[in-house]
Amino acid sequence: MAMIQDTVKNLRLPALLDERQRGVPETAKAWEARRLELVDLLCREVYGYVPAFEGMVSAACVEKDEGAYAGKATVQTLNLTVTMPQGVFSFPIVMTLPNFIERPQMIVSLAFRKQIPDRYYPQEEILDAGIGVAQLCYTDVATDDGDFSTGVAPLLTQGERTGTTLGKIGMWAWAASRVMDYLQTLDCIDRDTIAVLGHSRLGKTALLAGALDTRFAFVYSNDAGCAGDAITRGKRGEHIRDICKNFPYWFCENYQKYIDREEEMPFDQHFLLAAIAPRYVCIGSAVDDIWADPEYQYYSCVAAGEAYQFLGLEGFCHLDRLPAVGDSFHDGQIGFHLRSGGHFLSRYDWLQYIDFMKNKKRP
Ligand code: GCU
Repeated sequence: MAMIQDTVKNLRLPALLDERQRGVPETAKAWEARRLELVDLLCREVYGYVPAFEGMVSAACVEKDEGAYAGKATVQTLNLTVTMPQGVFSFPIVMTLPNFIERPQMIVSLAFRKQIPDRYYPQEEILDAGIGVAQLCYTDVATDDGDFSTGVAPLLTQGERTGTTLGKIGMWAWAASRVMDYLQTLDCIDRDTIAVLGHSRLGKTALLAGALDTRFAFVYSNDAGCAGDAITRGKRGEHIRDICKNFPYWFCENYQKYIDREEEMPFDQHFLLAAIAPRYVCIGSAVDDIWADPEYQYYSCVAAGEAYQFLGLEGFCHLDRLPAVGDSFHDGQIGFHLRSGGHFLSRYDWLQYIDFMKNKKRP
């Protein structure tokens, strides 16, 4: 019995709940305190600290088509301007809203490219599900390289980079929250069920955005793997050594301490998933994406389930075996699916996320 739980126990992961909480009466307040500790630890050791936001966001419409997709949708390009004590920063978003749905659910989509739709984006099917999308292109916020002198980077980091200075993933997550700020001003959408979604490096970003900003009711991470949705200890494919060599600027410098010392980390990626509890989080994996490692993505869902159970929720409802291609476990607050094929944000993945979103209410 409970073979998978035993496997996860044998990974010897740092405990999600601290000693004080084991066996004490469950309370949402106790969890929130612990959740903030998890977020703090992840910021300090992995992603860097995001400066507190003291600013305002305004939007200017650049282009609007009220009859897009054969009249089904209104597509608007907006320029968001963020005014902060450190300075002013603007970036574009594209909003696609279904015309015939009252107050649609929305997904903040972190995108690799500006084009809509593109190969990662079955726009008509999303619209047909009655869901709107606000898309930002990540390089409009901060370049995907080690340059911290352009985009929003100088406003969020200021001066020398220290061990805990924010990396690029944190900057893209910051931008998702600014889109959320704007969406909160709209009466024409369902402001209580807004999701954030991303693939791969942007899946890591979506998870961090969801952990930092509790206004996101749903978080979707597709094939995010290392430093995202997969347990690091013992996984196949990418490790901290690889990711810190190829993409050091995604993280704060403290993360480098754990190169070849993953067993010493006082955290693992189940902390990031759990930091979203009690809200919804759904993970997509692909059987051939060994670099991300679907098996260890699954284990982080299993391990993060403990936080939800502490709160008296179901958490992750799954079978007591490793996932098989075609499985999708959507009954609890944590969702997971495994599809055939490799690293990609596919139509299949989107349909899974839509299904997950449609059948849940905000906790
Ligand atoms: C690389 C990187 C991964 C990342 C991926 C992506 O493969 O090693 O960690 O998820 O790029 O963002 O496409």
